Amino acid sequence: MFPLRRNRRLRTSENLRALVRETILTPNDFLVPLFVVEGKGIKDEIPSMPNYFRYSLDLLEKEVKELWAMGLKSVLLFVKVPENLKDNKGAEALNPNGLMQRAIKTIKNAVPEMIVMTDVALDPYSIYGHDGIIENGQIANDSTSNFLAEMALSHAQAGADFVAPSDMMDGRILDIRELLEEENFINTGIMSYSAKYASAHYGPFRDALDSAPVDLIDIPKDKKTYQMDFHNRTEAIKETRMDIEEGADIVMVKPGIAYLDIVREIKNMSEVPVAVYQVSGEYSMIKAAAEKGWLDHDAIMMEQTTAMKRAGADIIASYFAKDIVKLLK
Ligand code: PBG
Repeated sequence: MFPLRRNRRLRTSENLRALVRETILTPNDFLVPLFVVEGKGIKDEIPSMPNYFRYSLDLLEKEVKELWAMGLKSVLLFVKVPENLKDNKGAEALNPNGLMQRAIKTIKNAVPEMIVMTDVALDPYSIYGHDGIIENGQIANDSTSNFLAEMALSHAQAGADFVAPSDMMDGRILDIRELLEEENFINTGIMSYSAKYASAHYGPFRDALDSAPVDLIDIPKDKKTYQMDFHNRTEAIKETRMDIEEGADIVMVKPGIAYLDIVREIKNMSEVPVAVYQVSGEYSMIKAAAEKGWLDHDAIMMEQTTAMKRAGADIIASYFAKDIVKLLK
């Protein structure tokens, strides 16, 4: 056939490349993670996440208005819990006047249409930094799952639109869905971290929330008994299929860039929207390389997030959301 078919013909100008472009990012693709702290007037840069901040409620309100004005319409909330409020069972997580519950209300008051999603897991509340309750030297599955349902209900009562369990306990989607239905929160959605891998990419996030697992004699310092083994692929399909059966409205793959094979796999089997989380370590690696002048920050940021959408992600949770939307304009 050569040279009747010249593939380069479609690449000859930027206008032509734009005409045949298959994947285009828009502000609607992005979900913005936000870190919330107690206090007033606090906008605290996270040392391992340059230009990313923890906000106290007053400045959170300002930030959320800014996001909305930029066209960013959904947020994912994480709270940094004061040390003295941590325990093994996460009691503070159910406090109707806790930081998460107040953060939800603050945002809903400031920007009622903003889609508010909340992280549901025990780690920021746990003295051990684990996502579940420790019983007899184990991360107890069923009591944790029951507790997470209560936690999700508390977020729904405070006004959350979606709850996002990030813990990887078995059966928690069903427990959460059942309790929400029982309490008549029929429109509160569940975005499940369905295929969440035990990854070294979460380090900076654990700095941000001071939630890293602590050294214990009888409990491993990693999360490998509940988060997935990164050597596995079919297990991601099993986890996701079960979460959809249990009632997940959106499923998620996490981390992002090293797991795009999984994103594509899940997109091909899932009848619900697929999210991907470009996690803290991915953000920090790009920042660090750019600071050294080794990589072009904006180019890498756009390439990696576009690759996530191309791989099949309908939603991208990203610390770069604001930077990306500015560039899209
Ligand atoms: C906690 C949680 C983690 C992240 C989101 N929810 C950390 C972990 O599982 O240890 C990581 C997000 C990121 O690294 O950006 N359940």
